[in-house]
Amino acid sequence: MATLLQIDSSAAGAQSHSKALAEYFAEKWKNNRSGTKTLEVNLAADQPPHIDGNMIGAMYTKPDQRDEQQTQTLALSEQYLEQLRETDSIVISSPMYNFGIPSVLKAYLDHVTRVGETFVYGENGPEGLLKNKKAYLFISSGGNYTQPPLDQMNFVTPYLKTVLGFIGITDITVFETPNMGMGDEAVAKSIENTKAKIDEIFAA
Ligand SMILES: Cc1cc2nc3c(=O)[nH]c(=O)nc-3n(C[C@H](O)[C@H](O)[C@H](O)COP(=O)(O)O)c2cc1C
Repeated sequence: MATLLQIDSSAAGAQSHSKALAEYFAEKWKNNRSGTKTLEVNLAADQPPHIDGNMIGAMYTKPDQRDEQQTQTLALSEQYLEQLRETDSIVISSPMYNFGIPSVLKAYLDHVTRVGETFVYGENGPEGLLKNKKAYLFISSGGNYTQPPLDQMNFVTPYLKTVLGFIGITDITVFETPNMGMGDEAVAKSIENTKAKIDEIFAA
């Protein structure tokens, strides 16, 4: 059965443009496949804890040597990993917050970027272990940081591509929706553009 994992990270809840566009995509994705299983993780509503010393200790202890507390410490991380492993397609919605991703999304990525679990260091350097998955990124920003020279200030798109690639997810489609702080007309136009790009994918 095809599985879609949708990960949302905006603090704006129902007002979030990135989440709404991810949902628009997910609906079309589901309608195109029968018997789809959908998993949803709302990082703003259910915030993962930041990495701390206990977590690092547990992550770097071999599974068969972890004590009960370390196993407990990694329970959420293990749950996230299980979801990722059973998923074919991953949708991530992310606003730009101060040129980067929301801290809840960074915390999530810290929980799933784990040596021996999602990447290993092999003879040829680091190798990602989450193979054969597609990722769709929905990134919204108040201004427009999609074109040179201002794209140099965009640490959302390159960071997400890098970290996902590092854990093996290299088939990534990016939908950037800029100008969300530029007035109603600009907002409507930008959302329309992204929706048209989504429609194009499903028409193909
Ligand atoms: C805390 C915060 C920081 C922001 N930082 C930026 C920024 O650095 N650059 C930018 O273009 N927009 C910035 N914005 C605007 C958001 O990226 C924009 O409103 C976006 O649509 C939010 O995504 P959402 O609608 O999914 O919540 C910021 C908004 C907030 C609340």
